[in-house]
Amino acid sequence: MKKRSLIVTLALAIASLPSIQAASHEGGDHDHTALEDQMSAMNKAWRSIRRQIKDPAKNDSTLEFMAKVKKAAQKSVDMTPILAKEMSGAEKKKFMAGYQKAMKNTVGLIGDLEAALKAGDNVKAEEIVGKINDARKHGHDKYKPEDD
Ligand code: HEM
Repeated sequence: MKKRSLIVTLALAIASLPSIQAASHEGGDHDHTALEDQMSAMNKAWRSIRRQIKDPAKNDSTLEFMAKVKKAAQKSVDMTPILAKEMSGAEKKKFMAGYQKAMKNTVGLIGDLEAALKAGDNVKAEEIVGKINDARKHGHDKYKPEDD
């Protein structure tokens, strides 16, 4: 075998090793969930929002990021967290009701934040960012696996 094709073969073999694939995936030990996809989309836009929330000159751009966060949060309301997939009966019902209430409340806060930005009230907007961060922390503490 030529040296170059040996290198290609080795590279392909290494890339297909399961341990390496798992290590390159955030979380890694389970299938990627639809809710994780929405959360990742939200996370990217949310970071930009937090960075520029104080700057009224950036409000149009912030509102564009907000539209992404809102869409992902709205979709998330009807999704099932991975923890609930192991549950059944009353336990599952209670978990899902709590999750949906928390996510709907977050969608409400996102609406409030949009309204504050549209009104050019960046002091209020910053306050609501804090409330959404609290909602995220609370939501993750209660509904997200700890090791994720
Ligand atoms: C600005 C708000 C939020 C951001 C930026 C955010 C971000 C994230 C990120 C980055 C992950 C990990 C995704 C991955 O592993 O690929 C995640 C997971 C998760 N988040 Fe959020 N989150 C937010 C709000 C919330 C709220 C309010 C709740 C609950 C009411 C929530 C529930 C969850 C759950 C359950 C998971 C685990 C995914 C699953 O079970 O399938 N998040 N979030």
